[in-house]
Amino acid sequence: MPAGRIRCGIVGCGPVFNWGWMHGQWLHAVPEMELVALCDRDPAALGRTLPEFPGVEGYTDLAEMLKRDDLDMVSVVTPHNTHADLVIQCLQAGKHTVVEKPMCLTIPEADAMIEAARAAGRTLAVFHNRRHDGNVRAIHELVKQGTLGEVFHIEVCAMGYSQDPNYGRPGDPWRASKAISGGGLYDWGAHAVDWVLSMVPSPMTHVTGFFHRFHDAASNEDHTRAIIHFANGCAAEICCSRAALIGKPYLWYVLGTKGAILDTGANAIVGYCNEVNGPSGGSLTLRTLEGERTVPYKESDWATYYKDMADHLLRGAPVPVSGEDGRRVITVLQTAEKSSASGHSEPVPHQ
Ligand SMILES: NC(=O)c1ccc[n+]([C@@H]2O[C@H](COP(=O)([O-])OP(=O)(O)OC[C@H]3O[C@@H](n4cnc5c(N)ncnc54)[C@H](O)[C@@H]3O)[C@@H](O)[C@H]2O)c1
Repeated sequence: MPAGRIRCGIVGCGPVFNWGWMHGQWLHAVPEMELVALCDRDPAALGRTLPEFPGVEGYTDLAEMLKRDDLDMVSVVTPHNTHADLVIQCLQAGKHTVVEKPMCLTIPEADAMIEAARAAGRTLAVFHNRRHDGNVRAIHELVKQGTLGEVFHIEVCAMGYSQDPNYGRPGDPWRASKAISGGGLYDWGAHAVDWVLSMVPSPMTHVTGFFHRFHDAASNEDHTRAIIHFANGCAAEICCSRAALIGKPYLWYVLGTKGAILDTGANAIVGYCNEVNGPSGGSLTLRTLEGERTVPYKESDWATYYKDMADHLLRGAPVPVSGEDGRRVITVLQTAEKSSASGHSEPVPHQ
């Protein structure tokens, strides 16, 4: 790694969330990161985004971009079914690689990506940057401080990012396709599973899943529910739905032996998709044996992810979210589907 500077490329700058552009903003916020190359196989997508980054070289073929010897790191920002192949291609070209969530579709794909990183001697990191949402930071901090005692029950409900019912709405074309997205739990569910796994200090034992598909408009399931069983006795339930005629608020409900959290205000997370960081926008309810109080969210510091990545690559700090961490998320998503089909709780191959 060149001293003090990481030269970065992005692959994927699609229209749905303008997400390659957003990665460029986050990279730009870290002085030790420099965006030098941008790739999208769709010339229109590339042509829209490239002018936002003067001096950055554009490519429609990833293999051409990877020929650059001066490229240190690539961020893969493409649809879910492409992640495994593109990440392995980047690693085999000797580039440290960051991949958007979810890491991939299946556990064997995750295994192959981790092995490719090991063989290349390069870092594989998964972009679970929503750990830095203000409400998630506040909840994680309260749990880590021990304010709740031992946490034994968690519910995260992501029925949509608003209280509006999402009944029957299939979502944008590739997110509604099971072959491309992985299924109804792979988008918001990937965030929610990562939040829970990074909060509970215990291995998983089993996953139980309940999947339902009612509408032909999309091949994804309409309603997905996963329950993660942990070795310490904690159980966490995650629900994503487009089949709820009454939608629940986007919800966190956490019970511990000394306290409880109810958070229904995450719509107040402002700035995501446009801003590098976001102000503290809301609050949650905390009840302990001493009484009930309102706890303001922390600021959302999404730029932290690439700062942590720079610390890792330049100074040997831990990987912000390792391939193994990303594989635990995929393990839950895939095992939940297996359990739904079998009608039983299923053991997890990666705890
Ligand atoms: N972390 C978050 O909060 C967050 C938010 C939005 C999107 N995402 C993730 O970002 C990823 C991309 O989502 P999106 O909404 O930007 O999708 P998108 O469809 O808008 O863009 C994807 C782009 O990838 C390009 N592409 C596909 N295969 C390619 C290849 N082989 N070589 C070069 N370019 C290729 C397509 O042409 C397209 O322009 C997904 O994993 C999604 O879940 C994460």
